[in-house]
Amino acid sequence: MAPGTATMTAGPARAVRTSLSITDNRTGRTYEIPVEDGTIRAMDLRQIKESPDDFGLMTYDPAFMNTASCRSRITFIDGDKGILRYRGYPIEQLARHSSYLEVALLILSGQLPTRAAYDDWLFNVTHHTLVHENIKEFISGFRYDAHPMGTLLATVGALSTFYPESKQVHDPLVRHHQVCRLIAKIPTLAAFAYRHSMGLPYVHPDNDLSYCGNFLQMMFKIGAYQVNPVLERALEVLFILHADHEQNCSTSAMRSVGSSGADPYCAAAGAIGALYGPLHGGANEAVLRMLREIGSKDRVPAFVKDVKESGGEVRLMGFGHRVYKNYDPRARIIKEMADLVFTVTGRNPLLDIALELERIALEDDYFLSRKLYPNVDFYSGLIYQAMGFPVEMFPVLFAIPRMTGWLAQWEEMLEDADQKIARPRQVYLGAGARDFVPMDRRPVQEK
Ligand code: ACO
Repeated sequence: MAPGTATMTAGPARAVRTSLSITDNRTGRTYEIPVEDGTIRAMDLRQIKESPDDFGLMTYDPAFMNTASCRSRITFIDGDKGILRYRGYPIEQLARHSSYLEVALLILSGQLPTRAAYDDWLFNVTHHTLVHENIKEFISGFRYDAHPMGTLLATVGALSTFYPESKQVHDPLVRHHQVCRLIAKIPTLAAFAYRHSMGLPYVHPDNDLSYCGNFLQMMFKIGAYQVNPVLERALEVLFILHADHEQNCSTSAMRSVGSSGADPYCAAAGAIGALYGPLHGGANEAVLRMLREIGSKDRVPAFVKDVKESGGEVRLMGFGHRVYKNYDPRARIIKEMADLVFTVTGRNPLLDIALELERIALEDDYFLSRKLYPNVDFYSGLIYQAMGFPVEMFPVLFAIPRMTGWLAQWEEMLEDADQKIARPRQVYLGAGARDFVPMDRRPVQEK
């Protein structure tokens, strides 16, 4: 049987290991649906009808809790075991031995690069870091205190108008140019967005510095500025950890917008919008706010009690994950990184509250029974704050490295013959057909 085709059988289905037998109790008919890679195709359910004019069976899956929207070869997560791998390589090894740009090329190309391929990539990214002077004028139109994530979203989207050839999304060479541009320019746009919000003059990219070193100087340089190698490496590791995370909310937005054939700047602007939300990229900002509100270690038990008694309204930010039902492996690496960063910056006083929160939560059945463990955001905000980044920059610091994942997933989507424009179905529960009533004849509605 060709993959993805289903057959209806008159009697009980012959159970084979690669299929699922479904009996429709409304009609008594049995269907044999192929099982491929642990999934059935939702379209195979469409043939299951109560009557010939029935639309056919659909699945109802709000928030995509159990629906695979694509086949991917980029990132593997085992949420129960706490495993994360990019292209097969464990995140721990990449964080220890690699650089962000090497990991970016690995994620985009599928292979650890040769020296020549890496040098070529490095040269390309380094020489695309400048942005058109018009971008500065564009940014100056934002209010003096504009949130840098809003400015970033708008400027990334605006790049679409600077590179109209980017609309040729099915040309791999054109795509490659936009990938280089977006990865190279996003730190510049991010730093400009920050400096605008602070009323500071922009600092141009320095091509003699590393990707992260250059970003740090564009952010913080006022007069002489020396990049601290410990902080530079810490940022490198944080960028590696955030580079991709398979089909999360913002990546799904990237794929979804891109599926209409929109250019990557528009699709990435959509992804940045998704990342901006407090349940996604805004969570580490919320963690810091929460730690500040708690205020001291001795108030941790009372806060945990509030969380448990709130019926889900008060959340322990930086805890829990849709996929990880174990310690997020990224959180473990970040926790180790915090000690290193604090040797340079001094200890962040909120760390003690965070450690106490983690200790108490991980002894409490409320969190254990729901498999709520620290996620990537629990400690990252503490490091970013110690490094001098204001909380408004936290989602921006997430968006910079995630650009790699978004672009890799976008390209994979475009090259996947199974993909079409993303367009979910709905279960309509609204009013049936009714006739228009002129305004003066409509009944008065009670408030
Ligand atoms: N604190 C307290 N309770 C929680 C938390 C939390 N952080 N997260 C989930 N729960 C509880 C829910 O109230 C629910 O309890 P119930 O079964 O009694 O109703 C149960 O755990 C399941 O929670 P869901 O909301 O169904 O889990 P979901 O997978 O939809 O949510 C999410 C995942 C959004 C990450 C959630 O855990 C959360 O809000 N965490 C805090 C925000 C956060 O840290 N986000 C960053 C995620 S990582 C990232 O985006 C990079």
